[in-house]
Amino acid sequence: MADIFEKLLKNAGPLGQHRERAHGYFAFPKLEGEIGSRMKFRGKDMVVWSLNNYLGLANHPEVRKADADAAAAYGLASPMGARMMSGNTDQHEQLESELAAFVFKQDAILMNFGYQGIMSTIDAICGRHDVIVYDAESHACIIDGLRLHPGHRYVFKHNDLEDFEKQMQRATALIEKQKSGGILVITEGVFGMAGDQGKLKEIAALKGKYDFRLLVDDAHGFGTLGKTGAGAGEAQGCQDAIDLYFSTFAKSMASIGAFLAGDKTIIDFIRYNIRSQIFAKSLPMPLVIGNLKRLEMLRTMPELKEKLWSNALKLQAGLKERGFDIGKTDTPVTPVYMKGGVEEATAMVMDLRENYKIFCSIVVYPVIPKGHIIYRLIPTAAHTDADIQETLIAFTETKAKLDAGAYKVEAIPDMAEKK
Ligand SMILES: Cc1ncc(COP(=O)(O)O)c(C=O)c1O
Repeated sequence: MADIFEKLLKNAGPLGQHRERAHGYFAFPKLEGEIGSRMKFRGKDMVVWSLNNYLGLANHPEVRKADADAAAAYGLASPMGARMMSGNTDQHEQLESELAAFVFKQDAILMNFGYQGIMSTIDAICGRHDVIVYDAESHACIIDGLRLHPGHRYVFKHNDLEDFEKQMQRATALIEKQKSGGILVITEGVFGMAGDQGKLKEIAALKGKYDFRLLVDDAHGFGTLGKTGAGAGEAQGCQDAIDLYFSTFAKSMASIGAFLAGDKTIIDFIRYNIRSQIFAKSLPMPLVIGNLKRLEMLRTMPELKEKLWSNALKLQAGLKERGFDIGKTDTPVTPVYMKGGVEEATAMVMDLRENYKIFCSIVVYPVIPKGHIIYRLIPTAAHTDADIQETLIAFTETKAKLDAGAYKVEAIPDMAEKK
């Protein structure tokens, strides 16, 4: 019999294979200093475009004070136990009702992590006769949630309504044949890689034609889209049609935790059946109080969202003027599409970091098809005009070098952290 670990040592996986040269630089880099638009990387000051700190709350003095005061008052232990057993508090319930009101729903449930929360929601509400219809570019937490689903699932091509209808017809036919079960449609408010919004309004409009419930992961839309910041559903005028609205606190709220909002009876069912919360310790009090503070700021400081958008639009306009392809984004998420191999991409990123002091994330094969490179930039309310200008110049110069073949190297540059 083989040792179960044997294969792990032979094949480190598609990304792990680059570990020897990449660790601590291209993968697992360590950004240091106060969170903001400029941080230190390997001792050098860099303009940072990799953090989902959309509203700049991560290091806002009021947020830092609320977090510190709550930690001093409660420590990290409180409350002990799962919510259902011994870990419930007035503050947890207050945060839930304030979140529900903020996204125009009757009730909400807190989750310790969005990733587990989505998986566990799917597990709690879908039985073996139910069918899930979902967008092909759904986040990993949705895909992993589908693995827990014992029934059928149909995937529709990303944001393709024709294919969506085709899959809905298949799902409907199956349910009619089974004579039991229902349909859950899952999509996202904003697709975090390309920055395009999910077609929520169009999907919602098909509710009369097909029978289904709609679950939307709005991790990137919450706090950044819509008149009041309630997200992609509000921006598209269809928040009512979203039966279950989800967001993490990890992005615009710059914190930890997540929530799911919807009708009271359904949220109550989930509260009593969501295994990731029932069998896990309650969200610590400093996070609950810190999240209450952040939510108050989302409600009362619209200037943060305005600053985010003004920075995002300046960056996107500057890139387009310089001939960059930024795809279909209609949100602050800013992808920049280029062509080149994995080795070239890493050499370019190294030049950007070492010589231009710009820190951004790249996405390459196997996450996207071979020969393509995506820079993924996240503008925030904390960025300045100088950050944007320096970045535009750096991009223009490095793109010219890329096109001239200056980054053609044999292998990924060895930038691994030497211990
Ligand atoms: C679209 C989307 N859904 C869910 C999650 C997971 O949330 P969390 O970080 O709270 O686990 C993320 C990442 O944070 C995300 O981008």
